[in-house]
Amino acid sequence: MKKHEMMQVVKQRPLTHNVYELTLKGELVRFMNEPGQFVHIRVENQYLPLLRRPISIAEINQHANEFKMIYRAEGAGTKLLASKQSGEAVDVLGPLGHGFPTDVLESGKTAVLVGGGIGVPPLYELSKRLMAKGIKVVHVLGFQSAADVFYEEEFNELGDTHIATVDGTLGTKGFVTDVIDRLQLPYDTMFSCGPTPMLRALEANYSDKPLYISLEERMGCGIGACFACVCRQAEESNAYKKICSDGPVFQAGEVLL
Ligand code: FES
Repeated sequence: MKKHEMMQVVKQRPLTHNVYELTLKGELVRFMNEPGQFVHIRVENQYLPLLRRPISIAEINQHANEFKMIYRAEGAGTKLLASKQSGEAVDVLGPLGHGFPTDVLESGKTAVLVGGGIGVPPLYELSKRLMAKGIKVVHVLGFQSAADVFYEEEFNELGDTHIATVDGTLGTKGFVTDVIDRLQLPYDTMFSCGPTPMLRALEANYSDKPLYISLEERMGCGIGACFACVCRQAEESNAYKKICSDGPVFQAGEVLL
């Protein structure tokens, strides 16, 4: 199975002051079948070591052989990635990891998708797939501030979308949990991706229904080599799972957060 390719940049566009959407084209797209998987990107110049960075897949377009990823340009590598223009090539390994299960819900059911910051992107492909199956999708997306919000319109086209910002400059002031509590939504399954404190809060409050969480924020090398992503399975146990290869998506309770 093909896992590595120099993919072509189709488009690069800024979504906020430091978040970018990159569209790449190539044969690897044929192997992208699960929302929530990620790719491992290598960018290099004479000053950067050969490091790869894991970035989640935001949208898959099999017909055009293209996929989109949304990433925050914060270190030297991702800043260099943000400078790539159409026609240039990017070194991509993937798709990697296990994504969100979409077969756990039938048509007519309701899914709540909860995203925080740069954890929001993989929920977009997930939402499209759930909607295509006739599942009602509701999105609850949390950001620091209005200036950090992206993809509000895109999510709105798929289903009801509620925004929370920590400083209250857009939507509900506070956290995603404030929105969920206020809405009192009847739903069947919750899917989430975002910072660990947010996932912990979801696990503590909403585990009475099926809850799937993506721990992509806690990944390092992304390919099973660095052990930075290891999670224990239970308090008194030495058994562990690797987020990059066993996850990044787990059912709530499968690993200790
Ligand atoms: Fe390095 Fe999983 S991220 S081993």
